Amino acid sequence: TANIIAKAAAGTADDLLSTIIAAATVPVLFAPAMNTAMWESPILQANIRRLSGLGFHFVEPARGELACGTEGKGKLADVAVIFDAALETLGNIGESGAEAKTGAKAGAEHDLAGERVLVTAGPTREAIDPVRYVSNRSSGRMGYAIAAAAKKRGAEVLLISGPTDLAVPTGVRHIGVTTAEEMHEACMERYRDSTLVVMAAAVADYAPVNAAREKIKKSGAKMTVEMARTKDVLKSMGAERTGQLLVGFALETENLVENASKKLKEKGLDMVVANGVSGIDSEQNRVTILDSSGGVEEFAPMDKERVAEKILDRAVALRGSVQT
Ligand code: CTP
Repeated sequence: TANIIAKAAAGTADDLLSTIIAAATVPVLFAPAMNTAMWESPILQANIRRLSGLGFHFVEPARGELACGTEGKGKLADVAVIFDAALETLGNIGESGAEAKTGAKAGAEHDLAGERVLVTAGPTREAIDPVRYVSNRSSGRMGYAIAAAAKKRGAEVLLISGPTDLAVPTGVRHIGVTTAEEMHEACMERYRDSTLVVMAAAVADYAPVNAAREKIKKSGAKMTVEMARTKDVLKSMGAERTGQLLVGFALETENLVENASKKLKEKGLDMVVANGVSGIDSEQNRVTILDSSGGVEEFAPMDKERVAEKILDRAVALRGSVQT
């Protein structure tokens, strides 16, 4: 890639790709991959600066093991990151192109412009000792899909997530946390600046009272870990809210609508997305959306990207009735 970047920066057109770049009247996005020293070389960086100044786009390489056997920056960015960057680069053209995948409504792309959206995602981990923890099967996909969708619809998005394997969507600010306590602190510090909060994280309800400082050695006896309740982030937000639209999730294995509706009232929410366990760690989710005006809408199973759009559609529809 260093070579093609150099050719593009010089305007050289001596093969198919460089000729296409030289003649292109559409946005051009580079996803470079190369040896770390090559990536850091002043010549390459100067070429990138020149091209960026001329309106070309770049996805930075990732860190990792490289073809030459070394570790460092230079790995091709994750395909999902390149895909998001391509959509971002294409702007509205990309949005309608993505419609088939996401189910986004044409023309609704920037209906969240001006909104400051806080999304939480993923599990939390509660330490038992330095090597063990209590957690859950949440992958974070639902929350990440909501953050990506909100960003594409024009919002300023902050994603606070527990540990996941997912790439942060392009243009989304991210804060990583590990425990329920850290999730509570990070959210309470920032939610006042938000206009819409979507709490998709699977926050632990209990955490070990005292994490052991050293690794617990096994013995012949049974072992009991004493656990205490964590703080409920949504409930704290509901109690102190200053005009935010609050959306929670409800994970239920029985009496879905009844239990979700209880959470809606007890936590002082505007909307609850109720789902069963089949959505955990899955590409798809089957949800029922309840709102504070008594609305209940049940959806068939669909990709989490589409579910994200449905949730945001409902939030936009409710927006008018909530004081800001
Ligand atoms: N939640 C939270 N803080 C917690 C626990 C849950 O903010 N300590 C949020 C979740 O992010 C979700 C909603 O509360 O949006 C409901 O979470 P869920 O696990 O379905 O229910 P709980 O409130 O934990 O109740 P229970 O486990 O008894 O069903």
